[in-house]
Amino acid sequence: MFPETPSEKLNYIAESVLKLSDFYIQNPEGETPWNDRYCQVAYRHYYLPLNFLRVANVIRHGQKVGFFKGLNTFVDWGCGPGTASLALAANESVKPQIQKQILFDISPQAVDSFSDLHGSLISPQKTKNFRLDSAGGKSSCLVFSYSLTEIDDLPVGWDQYEAIMIVEPSTSEDGRKLLELRSKLIKNGYFMWAPCTHQQDCPLLTLSKHDWCHDRIHVAAPTWFSQLEQLLPMKNKTVTTSYLLARRTPPPAGISQYGRLVGDSLAEKGKTRQLFCRGPEREFLTWMHKSIEPQTLPRGELVLQPNDAEKKSNEVRLNSPLKIEES
Ligand SMILES: C[S@@+](CC[C@H](N)C(=O)[O-])C[C@H]1O[C@@H](n2cnc3c(N)ncnc32)[C@H](O)[C@@H]1O
Repeated sequence: MFPETPSEKLNYIAESVLKLSDFYIQNPEGETPWNDRYCQVAYRHYYLPLNFLRVANVIRHGQKVGFFKGLNTFVDWGCGPGTASLALAANESVKPQIQKQILFDISPQAVDSFSDLHGSLISPQKTKNFRLDSAGGKSSCLVFSYSLTEIDDLPVGWDQYEAIMIVEPSTSEDGRKLLELRSKLIKNGYFMWAPCTHQQDCPLLTLSKHDWCHDRIHVAAPTWFSQLEQLLPMKNKTVTTSYLLARRTPPPAGISQYGRLVGDSLAEKGKTRQLFCRGPEREFLTWMHKSIEPQTLPRGELVLQPNDAEKKSNEVRLNSPLKIEES
């Protein structure tokens, strides 16, 4: 029985979230325990909204580079409640091109328990026995949202898809595994569309032992979520995520004029630095305070590569302000 008063409800949800959080910490590669009531409660009120925000932001990054052009079939593999499918259907620009959304999870309970949320999906097909290669093709996109973390390798048939969208927890371990996967995708004929603006080695993987590429989203939480957070040790003023958007078709050539901000802005003595990526080198955009007004730019965004900067060791010292690429 769900408790009756608002404060009892909130406490019950918070306890469920803590229990599922402990489960994930103790079983980092374990399957989500969908059959347990506490898991369904925690997911609906906490993990689903947070993952939805993460996927929505990855979709936004994809839109900036035209990633979704020509895609009409989306397979949400390890869909759980259908988080990624819901985020795709909620995007006003992507929604009109969707013809079919296929939801697959090893746990049918996961999909069934959240069917009340699926009204916005486009021709949803909820399938229990699914062969991945049956939906592949030139207009198909295979989506993994926080599901690769629960398996060892890509499921058979993954390479039959024109496009692959992967969203993963931004832990060092999962994030670096994703960068290894990036190399595998490239070896198998895929091109990176985001976050990378190049197809060369990933400097965070090859030139560091601990770094991993991840994005940060600033969250404007509704009141009910802020109230829930007050009962939890973890806070979500910002949420992070690691992702890859890959296609068999190469990205537009113009993408190589850009770099991606892959670090937070760091104010140091006499300079402000921010890690950015445009190729196989690990480089920092650098604002030397004596010569240029420092900027604080949001991590994860694209910037036009500066053409009047001075390279000094791993620093790209700017001589004029940078502009964020707008959608
Ligand atoms: C952490 S949940 C993510 C759910 C959802 N995609 C999201 O972003 O919120 C991982 C999901 O992967 C599913 N999963 C794990 N192993 C799987 C497998 N071998 N085949 C299909 N789904 C699997 C789990 O049942 C679980 O629903």
